Amino acid sequence: MPSLTELQSWQGLQALADVLQRSSVSSLFAQQNQRFDEFSVSAAGVFLDYSKNRVTREVMGQLFEVAIERGLPEAINAMFSGDQINQSEARSVLHTALRSRSKRLVVNGVDVMTGIREQLAKMAQLVDEVRSGEWRGVTGKPIADVVNIGIGGSDLGPRMVAEALADPAASNPGVQFVSNVDGEHLLQTLAGLDPETTLFIITSKSFTTEETLINATSARRWVRDALGSDVSVRSHFVAVSSNVSAAVEFGIDASNVFQMWDWVGGRYSLWSAAGLAIALACGMEVFSELLAGAADLDEHFCQAPMDQNLPVILALVGIWNRNFQDIESLMIAPYDQRLASLPAYLQQADMESNGKSVDSTGKPVGVKTAPIVWGGAGSNIQHSYMQLLHQGNVSVASDFIVSRQPRTGSTYADHHRLLVANCFAQAQALMQGRSQQQAADELIADGVNPDQAEALAAQQQLPGNQPSNMIMVDNLGPRQLGALLALYEQKIFVQGVIWGVNSFDQWGVALGKTLATTILSTMARQRDGQSAPLAAGEDGSTLGLIRRFRG
Ligand code: F6P
Repeated sequence: MPSLTELQSWQGLQALADVLQRSSVSSLFAQQNQRFDEFSVSAAGVFLDYSKNRVTREVMGQLFEVAIERGLPEAINAMFSGDQINQSEARSVLHTALRSRSKRLVVNGVDVMTGIREQLAKMAQLVDEVRSGEWRGVTGKPIADVVNIGIGGSDLGPRMVAEALADPAASNPGVQFVSNVDGEHLLQTLAGLDPETTLFIITSKSFTTEETLINATSARRWVRDALGSDVSVRSHFVAVSSNVSAAVEFGIDASNVFQMWDWVGGRYSLWSAAGLAIALACGMEVFSELLAGAADLDEHFCQAPMDQNLPVILALVGIWNRNFQDIESLMIAPYDQRLASLPAYLQQADMESNGKSVDSTGKPVGVKTAPIVWGGAGSNIQHSYMQLLHQGNVSVASDFIVSRQPRTGSTYADHHRLLVANCFAQAQALMQGRSQQQAADELIADGVNPDQAEALAAQQQLPGNQPSNMIMVDNLGPRQLGALLALYEQKIFVQGVIWGVNSFDQWGVALGKTLATTILSTMARQRDGQSAPLAAGEDGSTLGLIRRFRG
């Protein structure tokens, strides 16, 4: 099989990029009236306008060709059928099954849908007991607060969705999240809580993650100190893990351990019982709708032709920007306060999945892979870093995300119109920019003398031509959010297929964990008064820092 860069379609894209180098996106609009209609698509309640990217019909055609030549249709089929596409860990990748409407999906002789239905039923029961007040703490009081302890995928997805969907006016249990190993995080969270009415969810697929275990252990001490005995642990802790025995050993009742499977990657796990915090915060109906929205998008992904396929298009436009426009970073700009944590969630989803430079066969990929993903909620971002995108000298691609309707209904309708106008304005300004002549004309019209106007105009021009996507949903309910998140998951999958990387492992994070263990033992040796010469693999800087830390 030819490498990616050997494909004729890939080389054709390079030729198109060279020609388009001279065209601005604004000029493409001037040439083509129907550009918005041609370069927008909608499915599963999500609308995407990608017309503000420097793409043409020819570019999109070549990109679809690349996708076919890289075996995308076969790869989609392989993932949804449960083939072991995570080859380096010899695992299937079946987070899509967690939201599937299929009755049966047999993988290695096992119908995974049976287990999924069982866990959903178990979640529903716990959610009902806690939210109705039937679940009692050891002293007989109902649960008022839930704390999810987990990190990475066991935190970011559930936290982001719970923040987005929990109704602030409802009297459900308050749900909070502790992830950071910094004791401050736990301390600050527990400060306002009462052990008698707090339930902890220890969410860890492996149940070996150091940060989660130390936070869980400290939380258990907090409960035991206040309420005594191990009985209290059984009433105040549940777990979500694929390592049931470790959770039981921690002191959690086996019947309160929710199952995860090795075919759910951590960053793809919010659809599993790892989403328990979401269901507790918002109700099981909301969680079911979230799954249904993701299933809608998955069905579209599997069935739609490529030129109508939302995740395929979003992925290919991303490939175009990354590999042919040399754009290194992707800003995620939700103009929606509820999605303030979306950029952090997408950082893990994208960068942990595709931040790789060797393909699944161990060869160098040969092209740039995942962009640096970052961002924040609009309109705040306009008053911090947008300046650099408008007048700095780096190219950045952006995804703007906005809901047509606010949750606030008519109460803050004027806020919402202003929010949306700002969102559209940023995308427009990034594309159109402002010429020096325009700036000068405006200054002169404002009464500035022509000499001064010229100097000022040079500083007031904006080059524009920064590409962006606009993603719009009608109303950011659970169904739309489910579809939106599945859209990004599948986009990341498509890009992984094109680049040839395994999007489902994360070997890069292992080294830091191992080194932290070594450093911890060096610190312990130094604390014991032993002189600590450089051990094999230790460097002078790290040892110097350890000594400085010891004081
Ligand atoms: O950061 C590495 C990682 O393995 C992530 O992929 C995962 O989401 C996170 O750690 C937490 O892992 P676990 O759920 O096993 O505690």
